[in-house]
Amino acid sequence: MNLLVILALVAAASCAEHLLPKKSVAIDKNSVLVLFGTRHGNRHPEVFLEENPRSWGYEGNTELTSYGKRQGLGLGKELRSFVGKLISRNYNSSQVKYYSSSANRCQMTLQTVTAALHDPEQWGDWDKKWYDHWSPVPYAIDDPLLRMYAVKECKGNDKVWGPIDKDSLPTLKKLKTSNSAELKYFADNTKWNMENLGKAADLADNLIEIDLYKAEYPSWIKSPKLKGYTFEKLKAKILEFAEVHQNACAEYGPCGNLMAGYWLQNLLDKLADANAGKGPQVIGYASHTEITLSVMKLMGYVKDELTTSAGFLVEFKRLPKPAVRLLNHDPNPIDEHVIYPAELTPKLKKLADKDGFIPLDGFTAFAKQFAFSDWKSQCDKA
Ligand SMILES: *[C@@H]1O[C@H](CO)[C@@H](O)[C@H](O)[C@H]1NC(C)=O
Repeated sequence: MNLLVILALVAAASCAEHLLPKKSVAIDKNSVLVLFGTRHGNRHPEVFLEENPRSWGYEGNTELTSYGKRQGLGLGKELRSFVGKLISRNYNSSQVKYYSSSANRCQMTLQTVTAALHDPEQWGDWDKKWYDHWSPVPYAIDDPLLRMYAVKECKGNDKVWGPIDKDSLPTLKKLKTSNSAELKYFADNTKWNMENLGKAADLADNLIEIDLYKAEYPSWIKSPKLKGYTFEKLKAKILEFAEVHQNACAEYGPCGNLMAGYWLQNLLDKLADANAGKGPQVIGYASHTEITLSVMKLMGYVKDELTTSAGFLVEFKRLPKPAVRLLNHDPNPIDEHVIYPAELTPKLKKLADKDGFIPLDGFTAFAKQFAFSDWKSQCDKA
């Protein structure tokens, strides 16, 4: 089976994934700012299945894989062609600003994205022999912005994550009871404690890598001894658990809002700056599923999952009237990326013109109800 077929199966298994458009939309000629946020690229699982001698995973658990690096580079190339003349190829500190979560996988993803955004030329081409097509590009690490779940001072984390970590949210509870035979089968064969759905998600992450690296499946997956299951069916079942807790957080108001409300405020601030004629032309952020998906939902995207290296673009133009357009970006599936209009929540859809632009004041009024700038007090309140 080739990679595309395998990934099509992975996508089909995750069910909400739809067919991606072939071509990216073009930037509006009046756009003066592009904000983009991305989930990190493909990464290794948190725990490895140790059954067969492993031919992959040398980067270490949760680290970015070669596929993840290629996804980042592919995203950077697509962004480069989208932004066009808005920013120069050479890094210019007054035109761009980049932010990352402290996680290695996010920083490394951002580095591959900016490598493609800033392929140096002329005076910027500093070493043709060793670093062909690459220039260092600085970024800031900001965890309250892009990795709130890991911010120790944020006491609210325990509270909003509690019902997710304990699988006591109704949707998670139901997932457990309706898959009890399957979860027992996973537990018996992995020796992992499937009382927690997070472990089923780890199993899914292993399958994604086994597919990508064309590695050997454990025999209990290849030839299932579970009633009613073929190999393909079992694989699809396991993949349903990918990112189950992260997606549940984005779905669950208190969690999604605490994870992403501060980032949302930051995005609104950047838009207000651009509207006042201040600030850079491109601002990029690298983060995680539960943060990126949450901020997208808070902005009015209709979306319930986010694959590795997928995320959003917000395009802003001042003329003829200040307006924003919300776009998705997705890998298809590794090196190719596509930028396309988002599905909007009905309230925003009503405000959008035929090109998808929403008046800035309408968008701000919608999004600001979820935004906060004082994250510490928000964490105490949660
Ligand atoms: C850097 O960007 C600023 C703002 O766009 C511009 O004025 C300046 O000329 C650029 N520098 C170079 C060397 O292109």
